[in-house]
Amino acid sequence: MIQLIRGFKDILPGEVELWQQIEKITVDLFEDFGFSQIRIPIMERTELFKRSIGEDTDIVEKEMYTFPDRKGDLVTLRPEATASIVRAYIQHKLFAADPVQKLYMVGPMFRRERPQKGRYRQFYQIDAEIFGVASPLVDVQLIFLLTTLFSRLKVADAQAHINSLGCPRCRPGFKAALREMLMSVSDRLCPDCIRRRDRNPLRVLDCKVPSCREALADAPSILDHLCADCRQDFDAVQQSLDRLAVPYVVDKRLVRGLDYYARTTFEIQTGSLGAQSAVAGGGRYDGLVKALGGPEIPATGFAIGFDRLAEICGLDVENLLDKPQLFVAALGDRSQSLAFEWVCRLGQAGIRAEMDFSGRSLKSQMKRANRLGAAHVLIVGEDELEKGAAILRNMETKEQTMFDLARVVENIKQIFAGSR
Ligand code: HAM
Repeated sequence: MIQLIRGFKDILPGEVELWQQIEKITVDLFEDFGFSQIRIPIMERTELFKRSIGEDTDIVEKEMYTFPDRKGDLVTLRPEATASIVRAYIQHKLFAADPVQKLYMVGPMFRRERPQKGRYRQFYQIDAEIFGVASPLVDVQLIFLLTTLFSRLKVADAQAHINSLGCPRCRPGFKAALREMLMSVSDRLCPDCIRRRDRNPLRVLDCKVPSCREALADAPSILDHLCADCRQDFDAVQQSLDRLAVPYVVDKRLVRGLDYYARTTFEIQTGSLGAQSAVAGGGRYDGLVKALGGPEIPATGFAIGFDRLAEICGLDVENLLDKPQLFVAALGDRSQSLAFEWVCRLGQAGIRAEMDFSGRSLKSQMKRANRLGAAHVLIVGEDELEKGAAILRNMETKEQTMFDLARVVENIKQIFAGSR
């Protein structure tokens, strides 16, 4: 038997209902905050991701599914959505009508990481981006949106972590200080970090190798190197979070795994997912629109790991499963063919009805109705057809009522009106 690819997964009925509910609650909230949906392709030119995420990141160095298409052009299955949304924003000149655009998307991403709990090679993100607003207040709005969403989804243990990554004016000073510190612990760094120390020292801060993490315990904090503007900006973020009563921790180690960030970055972390603590991550990326060939327009955003969110979401799946409202237990050929008609017409009218097609005994049909969790069972045999009336059994209360078979679809519609 051919099995699915390692790190990929199926989301089966029973689980999918939870995903649908999460997506519905999320999209409703995003739309209340003025976001519109955008749909972007699953594959882009490799160059797009290299230039936006950065050549020295784990994603670009090791994790992308990249291959030449049949003409030899290098293409990549998207490892994230921000780069594509920025490309679309520039390519379709969305800024021309109004530079302020709030966009969201939901869909699969691909990263060839080592699979483990909460980490997959195809995973899903719920992504939101705001273009055209430089104010740090929108960063706060994004964090507020995330914490509101997580509480609606009954996520018990989630905490916002925030940091500032400075700007092109103050970051070089921090990088120099960091590089100097890294020189002094070089013997404890992994080969990747030795290379990154010289090219892109910030990346060393998010290395997952334990010896590197230990060596970096006393690394300088970027917060001590912020310029006056970045400091003011980060103070404003904290004050505003305080005013909105959003709890957070300032986390100087939070550098995010992508190169495009500047100033405020954030993650929502949880203790319930083992090593994969980030359920959502994002931040400001003011230079990216320009770097990808667009005008100088600020931007900020986040992505939620949908798979991780589904794992820690506290909604009750049992209640979400859509059970049949009616099961028609039909005995005999004539009843079966009438039942079939009713079931079709009821489905058309928005009432979920089921029947058994194999002509089994009443007992086994009742068993099936039970297993499906049907709310009511209509029992119809030759006698009932003769009399023009049948028993409608409420499976919860066990109450049985006589049911007129003359206008089944109409009667059922009337009985169930408003019960869904
Ligand atoms: P990211 O931190 O790389 O950011 O990913 C965001 C979230 O996607 C993570 O916090 C995690 O929950 C989930 N995630 C990432 N990799 C995996 C995986 N292999 N398996 C399961 N879940 C995963 C970004 O992607 C940025 N584009 C976010 C952003 C949007 N920044 C600004 N705008």
